[in-house]
Amino acid sequence: MENTEEIIALYPTIFVIFGVTGDLAARKLLPALLSLYSKGMLPKRFSIIGFSRRPFSKEEFRDFIRSKINIRFGQFREEDVKHFLDHIVYVRGLFDQVDSFKLLATKLHEIDKSWGQCSNKLFHLSVPPSLYEGILHQLHDSKLALPCSDETGWSRILIEKPFGNDTKTAQSLDALLGKLFKEKQIFRIDHYLAKESLQNIIAFRFANSMFEPIWNSKYIDRVHIKLFESGGMNGRGKFYDSVGAIRDVGQNHMLMMLALIAMDKPESLSSNDIRAARAHVLKKLEAIPTRSMTDRVVRGQYVGYISEEGVAANSKTETYVRMEARLNLSRWKDVPFYIETGKAVAETKTEIDIYFKNIENKKSEHDPIKQNILTFRIQPDEGIKIRFFVKTPGHGLITEAKTLKFKYSDTPFFGMIPDDYERLINDVFIGDQTLFASTDEIMASWKFVTPILENCERLPLKRYNKGVTEVE
Ligand code: BG6
Repeated sequence: MENTEEIIALYPTIFVIFGVTGDLAARKLLPALLSLYSKGMLPKRFSIIGFSRRPFSKEEFRDFIRSKINIRFGQFREEDVKHFLDHIVYVRGLFDQVDSFKLLATKLHEIDKSWGQCSNKLFHLSVPPSLYEGILHQLHDSKLALPCSDETGWSRILIEKPFGNDTKTAQSLDALLGKLFKEKQIFRIDHYLAKESLQNIIAFRFANSMFEPIWNSKYIDRVHIKLFESGGMNGRGKFYDSVGAIRDVGQNHMLMMLALIAMDKPESLSSNDIRAARAHVLKKLEAIPTRSMTDRVVRGQYVGYISEEGVAANSKTETYVRMEARLNLSRWKDVPFYIETGKAVAETKTEIDIYFKNIENKKSEHDPIKQNILTFRIQPDEGIKIRFFVKTPGHGLITEAKTLKFKYSDTPFFGMIPDDYERLINDVFIGDQTLFASTDEIMASWKFVTPILENCERLPLKRYNKGVTEVE
């Protein structure tokens, strides 16, 4: 039986990137492909077709990619970069135009012909969501997304978040995908699912029998999920202004983290069971009643946001949000899950704090509240820490807080942590959908988020200064 790497290496594959000149391709996608290439993890025969509107000659396109692609100094050998760029071809076209897709088809056929084989095709929609519909129709009508046969030459479609704008638009996008393609062809990206430290939540929870019995409302007081970024718009103002923090990361990355913390042990580690366990939790998110909206949702915008390139001068888009979610599950009865995210705050960090209940309600100067906290540090500096109490040496029975820490950087694993996009691309190659969002998960998270979005205009928008540690 072939192993994963052999399977990938064996089948020639063409990776088509719609929107290759955009930020995502330069920041995440191309570096991940280059990294896979340098590790010998791409098919022996592969080609990347960049598709975009800009007029580029072959050389101009190569230079453009080289100048834009996010490579840390010394990360790759110059030889690898050079050879990798030889595999990239450019097709200029419009995303909803028949002729452009004819051109793309010609290019795909040319490559297949030179390989003497019908290759696998992977179509990545690295474009703003408003362009999805046009591309999906063209892919379908041009028959480019038809697999070569049942056995060889699969064809898969990778879609980025945000998947829709609210429940209604997500439903219609889903209906369109269902009409045009088979479910096994569709890979809906939420790159957080592919982060090593998120995978570690599942491993940690279910591989350590000491935590599962106390993983419930009897012992857990609250959960706080934070995704903070010190950066602002970095040239993404136009896109961000049309989505805001709730849609950008709240509806997807943050709720996925909640699902991993709150889900039951899946029946098995199969893709279907893991996705079903996550979806089950998300379906149990209680809608925030309109009357409680102002107490449970806080929106903010950093000072200077409206001067960012591409942002409307009178924009009311939130760059910060804090939401209090609750789950209609007996395991989590009365346990609030705080979801908090912000741009341009003091520090870039993503972490999840699980606050256990106080053993006693006593609090004094010498004897602080005994609240254990388990922290999953998602990034940077991935790891886990536990706050616990020990006796202060001396006569009385006074305790003090200490911390037990596990950091990946202290272990030989460091440097081995796969990049999220590398893992996603690898999984698309082998057809494993575990780390991709399912329709059920996406619909359940929109169901929770849509009423909040509908009430946004009525919620105050707090202004905060760049670099704050807390949004009051
Ligand atoms: C993206 C959001 O999905 O996730 C960005 O659109 C955000 O606004 C990013 O910065 C955060 O991802 P990561 O992997 O850098 O934490």
